[in-house]
Amino acid sequence: MKTAGGCACHLSLLLCIVHVYFTLALMPEPRITIRYEDLDHKLVERFSQNGIFNYSVLLLHPSSGKLYVGAKDAIFSLQTKTLTEKPLVIYWNVSDSNHVSCKNKGKRETECHNYIRLLQFLNETHIYACGTYAFDPHCAYISLSSFTLDRLENGELRMDSGRGKCPFEPSQQYTAIVADGVLYAATVNNFLGTESLISRATGKEGERIRTETSTLWLSEPEFVSSAFVPESQDSSNGDVDKIYFFFTETAKEFEFYTKVKVPRVARICKGDIGGLKTLQKRWTTFLKAQLVCENLQTGARYNILRDVFTLQREPGSWGSTRFYGLFTSQWERDEVSAVCVYSLPEVSQALSGSYKEVKRDCEKPAYPEPNLHPRPGACITSSLVAEGFSNSLSLPDKVLTFVRDHPLMEQPVVARPLLEKMGTKYTKIAVSLAPLHLPSSEFKTTPILHLGTDRGKLHRAVEVGDRAMLIEETVLFSSEEPIHNIQLDQDSLYVGSSSTVVKLPLANCSQYSSCQDCVLARDPLCGWDTSQSACVQPGKSQGLLQDVEHGEAIKLCPDTGRCDPERAVVKAILGSRIVLPCVPHSSWSHCVWKFPKDLPAVNQRADGLEITVSQSSLGVYSCICVENKISCDRASYTLEVGDPTMGALCSSSRNYTVGISFFCLLLGVLLGAASFWGFKRFRGTKQTQIEQRYAETPNSPSSPSIMSEGMPLTEKKNGLNGHNAYANVNEVCDDARPIMKLAGAPLARCDESSI
Ligand SMILES: *[C@@H]1O[C@H](CO)[C@@H](O)[C@H](O)[C@H]1NC(C)=O
Ligand SMILES: *[C@@H]1O[C@H](CO)[C@@H](O)[C@H](O)[C@H]1NC(C)=O
Ligand SMILES: *[C@@H]1O[C@H](CO)[C@@H](O)[C@H](O)[C@H]1NC(C)=O
Ligand SMILES: *[C@@H]1O[C@H](CO)[C@@H](O)[C@H](O)[C@H]1NC(C)=O
Repeated sequence: MKTAGGCACHLSLLLCIVHVYFTLALMPEPRITIRYEDLDHKLVERFSQNGIFNYSVLLLHPSSGKLYVGAKDAIFSLQTKTLTEKPLVIYWNVSDSNHVSCKNKGKRETECHNYIRLLQFLNETHIYACGTYAFDPHCAYISLSSFTLDRLENGELRMDSGRGKCPFEPSQQYTAIVADGVLYAATVNNFLGTESLISRATGKEGERIRTETSTLWLSEPEFVSSAFVPESQDSSNGDVDKIYFFFTETAKEFEFYTKVKVPRVARICKGDIGGLKTLQKRWTTFLKAQLVCENLQTGARYNILRDVFTLQREPGSWGSTRFYGLFTSQWERDEVSAVCVYSLPEVSQALSGSYKEVKRDCEKPAYPEPNLHPRPGACITSSLVAEGFSNSLSLPDKVLTFVRDHPLMEQPVVARPLLEKMGTKYTKIAVSLAPLHLPSSEFKTTPILHLGTDRGKLHRAVEVGDRAMLIEETVLFSSEEPIHNIQLDQDSLYVGSSSTVVKLPLANCSQYSSCQDCVLARDPLCGWDTSQSACVQPGKSQGLLQDVEHGEAIKLCPDTGRCDPERAVVKAILGSRIVLPCVPHSSWSHCVWKFPKDLPAVNQRADGLEITVSQSSLGVYSCICVENKISCDRASYTLEVGDPTMGALCSSSRNYTVGISFFCLLLGVLLGAASFWGFKRFRGTKQTQIEQRYAETPNSPSSPSIMSEGMPLTEKKNGLNGHNAYANVNEVCDDARPIMKLAGAPLARCDESSI
């Protein structure tokens, strides 16, 4: 059903405004952080070659145990067993003349190289490789048997033009995929990077078709991923093979004074060979739909697509395909990331719904959808062939004109985030399936998300129900470099960055030393072996304790219920503000505090309880963590007045409440006017920055009221647990008095060793 066009148009405008209001729930940090210094370098292997950088493309050949790596001016063939053993290399650098002409065109020296951007298997014997080739993209053929570039009879390299197959610029986002030996690419087609297209880039000359040059089809797209789904393999209804492209583009359907970006999924049919008169050498099946990744409870909407991983939830069944989308937000300056999942049937449903009428004139009523046959944009199924439409060339003009003018669907594909994370910008996602340890003979798997950040960290999250919980963070690099690529293998994971290729095992069970830790982490790749008293990977042992879905295995742990909390006497001076540490065992647990009286100034944070020391706040504080109805005393502190032996004035944490900053201000007065003045000035500049931020963001009329509260946006989102909001206050405190970190005190744990 459609309302008047004008109405719909205004509604979408309203939607744009509404999602500016963010309120975000605090996603707990991963329970376990493995620091770079703690990495076991026997298990975590690294590969890099002197003078070669930008290891950005990874291609795995599982049966031969080879990992192909595309870098700058070079392609490597590594052994997956041991990355550093007998690596082979192909140097594929640009000729001097290309290098010179690139520089003459005004490009920098570093850009005038051959950055390998594509490595894909063409057939059993060859890999297709494309590189930027000093702003003049080229592709070449790698013979797998000899690992050399193919040469022509005259001895020259066998090279194709890479136009439309590979971007000109090394850092340009792009995607391409080989389907049945033919390359489909989504990239820019010209030196200036202004003309984007999705095309069938190789194969028969007459079948090299592409998108129409129209902003209705593609409007400043940033391509991130593509997937080939050969649906015909497991469907009998004649539904055919399709290729999906994922990108973010500038919305044409909203009229707004700033560019509104929208994430999209587009689909083409593999059998499409273009139209006869209309849409000649153009896709006749190009349809796209908006992806929505939104948390309805908080109103947070993520509109920039960063990456998509395509997973078959049930291996072998194309119908179970799921697309894991990694998002950030245009409005939040990449401080937030989210993962949303879309199933293939949901995407198909949107693409078989009604078409969107994109008109400049808001007041014009929408046209009723014409009754066209075959359905515009549909693949040529076997039933259409039976009706005489043997291929896309035989489609009626009317159908083709309609699809040319209506590539966008009315209905978006909507999902609610599986995971939301503040203060992190994820760059890449890969998803593996782990078997669940079920007591019954029933076989089930659960997805594990592997997320790479722009600062060289790898996060692992487990999907349970409609949520994914972060369980582990691994710092992979000594410097904070972005992760460019993640490649999954049977038991390991390969990560590519500018400087290095890293191989690491998928699971690390030895990091959980007690049954409770092992089981509470709910890591599907680990379970507690009661006979060995160790957390191990399943497969090696039978009958491990683990219950990823419900966390109930904790009841079977021998150490459960016998808690031996760390007891400590904490001395602090009146008026000071301290944090009593208590960190839950897992992301699924929650902890409650028992304290002397109803104190107004307590603040329960993710890492403990923050209190102001006063006469009424003295007494015993206990932290009790509850995991699946089993509670365990984690810590017990007795707070007394005295010289702060263990206590602290300001904790080491970066999370500061307004209360603390006020207290620190008081300290500042004690210290003298100088530091007081300095602090004021800091707040002042901070405020100006925030006002500028607001001024730049497309905003609603009510934004001034937010500003007038004098609180940074991030602080508003988190309530008092603001992120970095008053980071510098820390320094004022530090100057005032040396901090004795209570956080460094031994944490009360339910450790079996203490029983
Ligand atoms: C496993 O965890 C331990 C303890 O945190 C750490 O020292 C080790 O380096 C980790 N191993 C890998 C392969 O990440
Ligand atoms: C390509 O790189 C190799 C190794 O760095 C170098 O020896 C060779 O001279 C380069 N060739 C050209 C044409 O620049
Ligand atoms: C694979 O593709 C390459 C490049 O087109 C071609 O030279 C080779 O003959 C093909 N091999 C097979 C087995 O089809
Ligand atoms: C290539 O690697 C260098 C060195 O790490 C880095 O500075 C540069 O940004 C990288 N370029 C691209 C396009 O990734």
